[in-house]
Amino acid sequence: MSRLVIVSNRVGPVRDAARAGGLAVALVDALRARGGLWYGWSGDTNNQSAGVKVEQAGALQLATADLTEDEYDDYYNGFANRCLWPLFHYRIDLTAFDRRYYEGYRRVNAKFASGLFPLLREDDTIWVHDYHFLAFGNELRQMGAEQAIGFFLHIPFPSPEVLATLPNHDALVRGLFAYDVLGFQTSRDLERFCDFVVREAGGHVEGDRVTCFGRTIIARAFPIGIDTDGFAKMAADSEDARRQYEKAVRGLRGRAQMIGVDRLDYTKGLPERFQAFERLLDDYPDARGELVYLQIAPTSRGDVQAYREMRQELEGLSGHINGQYGEFDWTPLRYINRAFARRSLAGLYRASKIGLITPLRDGMNLVAKEYVAAQNPENPGVLILSRFAGAIYQMPEAIAVNPYDIKEVADAIQNARYMSLEERKERFQALFDGLQRDDVAYWRDSFLATLEHEAPMHRNAERPS
Ligand code: G6P
Repeated sequence: MSRLVIVSNRVGPVRDAARAGGLAVALVDALRARGGLWYGWSGDTNNQSAGVKVEQAGALQLATADLTEDEYDDYYNGFANRCLWPLFHYRIDLTAFDRRYYEGYRRVNAKFASGLFPLLREDDTIWVHDYHFLAFGNELRQMGAEQAIGFFLHIPFPSPEVLATLPNHDALVRGLFAYDVLGFQTSRDLERFCDFVVREAGGHVEGDRVTCFGRTIIARAFPIGIDTDGFAKMAADSEDARRQYEKAVRGLRGRAQMIGVDRLDYTKGLPERFQAFERLLDDYPDARGELVYLQIAPTSRGDVQAYREMRQELEGLSGHINGQYGEFDWTPLRYINRAFARRSLAGLYRASKIGLITPLRDGMNLVAKEYVAAQNPENPGVLILSRFAGAIYQMPEAIAVNPYDIKEVADAIQNARYMSLEERKERFQALFDGLQRDDVAYWRDSFLATLEHEAPMHRNAERPS
C-alpha cells in the first residue's frame, strides 16, 4: 500500500489528543496503519524562515512550516478567513475582496507545496484538505508531481452567482482541476460545483466525471461522519464523561438542559439562537425556571474584526436575557466562551434533553452527530438542526428548522421539550443507525478508494499512448 500524505492548514489535532476530533483521529489511524505524513502550518509565525520541520511520532511523521507575520495576515486572516470563509458561507457582505490577500494566498500555497515536494515519494497518495489549500495541488503539479492527489472541501461550495463575485474565481476553479478527485460534503455542494463548471467555465459533466480546462477529474459527495461507536462508548463509559454528566445533572436540580457547542463564528447563527431562546421564554412561560440553555462557544479567529464584533454582540444578548428572565436560583442562559475536552463534552451532551444546532450555513456539522451518538438509547434527547447544515441530509429524523425564523426555532424547542419517550426513541434509533453506517472510517476509506483505485485507471486512460 502506498504511503499516505495528508495536507491541511492545521496539524494541531495530531498534537492535542484531548481536543482532537474524530476526524483527526480517523486520519491519524490511517496514517499509522500504512505509514504516512501529515503536513501543514506549525501554528507559529516567524520571520526567519526555518523551512520544513519533520518530527517522527511513532509510525507517522509530522511535517510543519511556519508562516511569516505577513503571510499570516494575507493568507490566513486575509484570503482564507476574510474572503473564502465568508463567501463560501454566503456572506458576501463580510467578504473582503483584496488582491493583496489573494496574492499572499497564492504565495503560501506555492511555499507549502515547495516545502512538501522534496519529501514526496513516487507512489505517495496525497490528500489535501479544505479552503486554505485550493491552489496547493496545482502548485505541486507545476513542480512536476505526478502522484495521485485528492482534495476534500470541508465547507460548503457556494452557488455560481456567489462564487462569481470573487475576482479570481476562475483561477481558483481552474486550479482545482489539478486534483484527481474532488470531494464535497453533500450532493448539493457537488451540484453547485458542477453548475459552476458548466455555466461559467464551459465544461461538461458525465456522471461523476467532470471535464474542463483540458482535464477530466472525478467529483463526488463524501459526507463526513464521526466515530459513532467510539463516541457513544466514550459518553456512556468513560470516567471523565460520567463525572461531567453527574456534575451537570446535580447542578440542574431536576431542570432540563439544552446544549449548543460551536466555534464562535458568525456562520453558526448564535445571535439568532439566543433570540429564539428569549422568544421561547416570552411565548411559553412554562419554560421559565425549567430549562437551562448551555452554549459553549470557544473564541475563534480573534484577529478578524467580524469575530470580535460577534463576541461583543453575544455578551450583550446573554446579559440581557439573564437580566430579564433570571431568578435568584435560575440562570436561563449559561454562555461559556472556552473550549472543553471531548470527553467532558460527551458527558454534557448526554446530560442534555435538547441539542440546539442552528448554523446559518455549515458544510456538515459534526456536533449534531456527536450529540446524537452521546445519548442514552433508553432516554434520548432531541436534536434540533438547521436546514442549512450539511448534516440535515443524513439526519432527516432531527427537527429541521430555519435558523433565521426565530419563532419557528422557539416552537421547535417547545415541541422538543414535550416530545414523548416513544417518539424520541424512534427518532434516535433512526439517526443512530445512519451514523453507524456512514461513520468517519467509511468516509475516509471511500474517499481513498476512489483516489487510489478509480482515479488511476482513469488517469491512465486519459494519457495519450
Ligand atoms: C472549520 C474549517 C477547518 C478549520 C476549523 C477551525 O472547521 O473547516 O479547516 O481548521 O474551522 O478554524 P481555524 O481557523 O481555527 O483553523
